[in-house]
Amino acid sequence: MKTRTPLIAGNWKMNKLMNEALAFAREFKPLAQEAVHVDIAVCAPFTCLAALRDEFRGTNIRLGAQNMFYERQGAFTGEISPAMLLDVGCSWVIIGHSERRELLGETDGDVARKTRLALETGLLPIVCVGETLAVREAGRAATHVRAQTEKGLAGLAPDDLRRVTVAYEPIWAIGTGRTATAADAQEICAAIRATIAGFAGPAAGDIRILYGGSVKSGNIAELLKTGDIDGALVGGASLGAAEFAEIVRLARV
Ligand code: 13P
Repeated sequence: MKTRTPLIAGNWKMNKLMNEALAFAREFKPLAQEAVHVDIAVCAPFTCLAALRDEFRGTNIRLGAQNMFYERQGAFTGEISPAMLLDVGCSWVIIGHSERRELLGETDGDVARKTRLALETGLLPIVCVGETLAVREAGRAATHVRAQTEKGLAGLAPDDLRRVTVAYEPIWAIGTGRTATAADAQEICAAIRATIAGFAGPAAGDIRILYGGSVKSGNIAELLKTGDIDGALVGGASLGAAEFAEIVRLARV
């Protein structure tokens, strides 16, 4: 029996204009209001955050961003600071998503700096790790993900670590319709927890580890039955209010 409250976080990626975001919020709010067994986050594009903050005020739905910069303020054209995200109503921030690592060159070092600053500022980071298909086929998935976890999180104090969520997202399962089996996902999530225990001891038992990669209402329950998966980071299936609400409803550990 897990004691960690499940977290279902939607990652809208680069989708939805303002009117679409508002339509989602108005449909989703009533569908999610009974979900007291689960924490809910919607990680929306920066442009929609202010409007969503107003829409979600007083509800059980928290707001998140999909990225932030690793400096507090200054001459960093086009970047966004953690204080700006807090200011616009965010509780959560996704850090080190594989799309940013692969397309925008984000490194483990960047992820470590961003995670540390998010915690210092008061945001809750969702730190993403995950292997490519080539790495998995070479039998190195666990080794790769353990190294990413260690580089991203090592050195954080246990009390800070407890506010971190890790999302295991195998790159070959993202947007492909190909979900890792619950057993495969569990194996890697257990390896992530063991890695954290190695440098942080018992705090590892309090950290939520999410699975991400083609999660939908049809597979969420099976994933959450495992010992170490505490929720999901949901891409495509978080774009529709009814489907995302169904995932939330079924998210019991
Ligand atoms: P999909 O759920 O669309 O596969 O995306 C997963 C993801 O990358 C969430 O961050």
